[in-house]
Amino acid sequence: MTWYKVGKESSMKDGDLAKVKAGDREILIIKDGGNFYATSHLCTHEDYDLADGFVDDHQLICPNHFATFNPKDGSVISPPEGAGDISPLKSYKVKVENGDVMVDL
Ligand code: FES
Repeated sequence: MTWYKVGKESSMKDGDLAKVKAGDREILIIKDGGNFYATSHLCTHEDYDLADGFVDDHQLICPNHFATFNPKDGSVISPPEGAGDISPLKSYKVKVENGDVMVDL
């Protein structure tokens, strides 16, 4: 487990998504309801980059076929219509320390 600084708390507003580098991985940072969350950044349906998605009603939405995920734990809220089950996103621990957003990988 290693904590990586991935950005400044002040650089994101509610509903923002940011793809960041943490170590040798790219992950997605989500700000929702005043909290930060971190997940893998590729949709588990067809690998669409969720950094191009959006947050609505506390759900992370893939704009490609509208799969929805829970930003808090990466779980699937609803798969694309007719797609059957899809896997959850990976979810990572996040903390804010001295104004820095940190992710544990
Ligand atoms: S690629 Fe995300 S819903 Fe299809």
